[in-house]
Amino acid sequence: MSILTSLTRAWLTKTTKPFRFYPGGSATLPYRDTPGMGLYVHIPFCRSICSFCPYCKVLYDETLAKRYLQALLAEIDLVGQNVEGEKKEATSLYFGGGSPALMAQDIQSIVQRLKRYFIITEGIGLELHPKDCTTERLQQLKEAGVSKISIGVQSFQPEILKLLGRESVAYEKMFEAINQAGFETVSADFIFALPGQTIESLKEDIELAFAHGANHFAMYPFIDFTFTERKFRRRKEKEKKHLLYEIVQYCEKQGYLRDSIWTFSKTGNSRYSSMTRDNFLGFGCSATTLLERQFKINTFDVDAYIERMQQGRIATALTLEFTLRQRMVYYLFWTLYSMELREEDFEKAFGKTLSSQYGFEMKLAKRLKFVTQEEGGYRLTTKGSYYFHYYENFYTLSYIDQMWGLMHKEAFPSELIIR
Ligand SMILES: C[S@@+](CC[C@H](N)C(=O)[O-])C[C@H]1O[C@@H](n2cnc3c(N)ncnc32)[C@H](O)[C@@H]1O
Ligand code: SF4
Repeated sequence: MSILTSLTRAWLTKTTKPFRFYPGGSATLPYRDTPGMGLYVHIPFCRSICSFCPYCKVLYDETLAKRYLQALLAEIDLVGQNVEGEKKEATSLYFGGGSPALMAQDIQSIVQRLKRYFIITEGIGLELHPKDCTTERLQQLKEAGVSKISIGVQSFQPEILKLLGRESVAYEKMFEAINQAGFETVSADFIFALPGQTIESLKEDIELAFAHGANHFAMYPFIDFTFTERKFRRRKEKEKKHLLYEIVQYCEKQGYLRDSIWTFSKTGNSRYSSMTRDNFLGFGCSATTLLERQFKINTFDVDAYIERMQQGRIATALTLEFTLRQRMVYYLFWTLYSMELREEDFEKAFGKTLSSQYGFEMKLAKRLKFVTQEEGGYRLTTKGSYYFHYYENFYTLSYIDQMWGLMHKEAFPSELIIR
């Protein structure tokens, strides 16, 4: 499969050149005229570390968190001051982690600092660990302007939580506090394709979340990164595929709207996805930035990140300059994550029509029933979404796994080549 996927990439990008990341990057980011840009802030602190988790995280320490806050504010100034003129519009702001609510009392000052340079038009989202859903923290988040939250439930089943090494939480109390605070989107994160999970137990998880006040959920397939530890057997691809089909069928029957590959909304008017932005600026350790022609990633080392900021230097570890075709493929990949591809948006992003660039490929995708053609664009079918999921799994395991594996080992690698 890896040869087939590499060939597909070479065909779509019209080059066999590998992705070559060089060390460091420019302090001046060309985002002044970037359309549809989101903001992302990474908070790496956790109460305890889950062995399966691939993200950049460290145990919470109050002194370290204070130093981290200062570093974050310095990075926002550094990036924000580089672009002159009026404030830049940013569609959204997401706080991810780690467990960002461990710094709940600081979220407001981070938001205020970002607002010196950006106008946030579509709200603020934040990831929460179930243990962080206390009345006091939720209130602090509301006051900071957070309107969408996603809670890392993973599963309501005690035996599944045990497999993941996570404690059971008093969910009724947790949802009571969440409902009292009142957020526009309350999303629950689940992981599927874990041993023992059946469509019945997953349905139960979804319905329990909805019955308690959630209006959205994400159902992530378990991803087995090479640098994390798995304490259970992996489910077969065939079983995973079967479960995914059953989940989609169930949600369609219930009238839940699929708003991205992994996410569903109860009534269609709640959204939570930090992944479906054309472009974004990232702040904090491990944060990535994606602009028209470049991708960059900050160091994963929290101390190294703080040190760089104290020196007034950027913390970029690696940068990739895209060729136009590479950027187009990257765009198609992330846009299809939202299940939809609009011809007008593609043309706005690249100044060329989708049919002139990928007319043959889109016809083929239609013929294979991966997409259906709609007014002004295309929509991924359930079959297409399964292949997307398969490709994404491959992409995650060969690209992200390689990059994050390296970044977990070295604060500033000398280069990275992904073939
Ligand atoms: C940064 S964590 C969420 C926030 C919080 N720290 C927590 O654990 O509840 C983001 C989400 O990624 C998902 N996740 C983490 N590791 C994963 C893996 N190996 N495979 C699939 N999903 C994973 C989990 O659903 C998790 O809730
Ligand atoms: S899953 Fe959440 S709590 Fe666990 S290590 Fe990852 S970020 Fe931290």
